[in-house]
Amino acid sequence: MNNKVIAIDGPAGAGKSTIARKLAKLLNYTYIDSGAMYRALTLKVLLQDADVQDQDAVVRIAAETDIDFHHNSIFLDGRNVDQEIREEGINRNVSCIAAVPEVRRIMVELQRKASKGKNVVMDGRDVGTVIFPNASFKFFITASVEERALRRYAETLEKNSQADLEDIKLQIEQRDNVDSTRVDSPLRMAEDATCIDTTGKTVEQVLEEVIKSMNLMGGEY
Ligand code: DC
Repeated sequence: MNNKVIAIDGPAGAGKSTIARKLAKLLNYTYIDSGAMYRALTLKVLLQDADVQDQDAVVRIAAETDIDFHHNSIFLDGRNVDQEIREEGINRNVSCIAAVPEVRRIMVELQRKASKGKNVVMDGRDVGTVIFPNASFKFFITASVEERALRRYAETLEKNSQADLEDIKLQIEQRDNVDSTRVDSPLRMAEDATCIDTTGKTVEQVLEEVIKSMNLMGGEY
């Protein structure tokens, strides 16, 4: 049997990772968060005090970096960095690093390697367009920018006592802009993807829509 890939792409904060994680659990697939890999590389660049705008330095670091998953945790050169990659400094710098073509080439290789021999649900920006153009199922998950900002705001408040909704909204808009306008593999919906707008929907409703659509497509999973 061929390995199956379910690709879930979409903009920041649309609920991709929640849906992807739950879907993987339900189907007994491996969940791979491709954005976490760009985040781990960004962490390494920042820890080395390199300039995120210095593309040559960033590519050099990417070429000598190992990023992999074990039991849903991400390891940067063998070290678990699940918490560190979610910090503010990473949010602000990751899309700049993800725009470098040579970095993307290295990451796509690592993303395919991490999926080898497994049935996977992978979420990101270019899963259905570049990493796995032949994925068994492709979804594009989106939501209004107001709703995405509100979700991030609630998440941030859970971890910190303070959060600024307007600042979060601005950051999401900026990240969307960089991700969608970059020259190499910009965020866009694959022609054969199913688009789901999650605005005003619960996680359960979206998950139900995903499964229903997979059943309608008739593919095996
Ligand atoms: O999904 P996320 O917010 O953790 O992604 C972090 C950044 O990485 C975001 O700016 C987009 C980028 N990214 C990408 O370019 N390609 C992917 N497949 C996944 C993420």
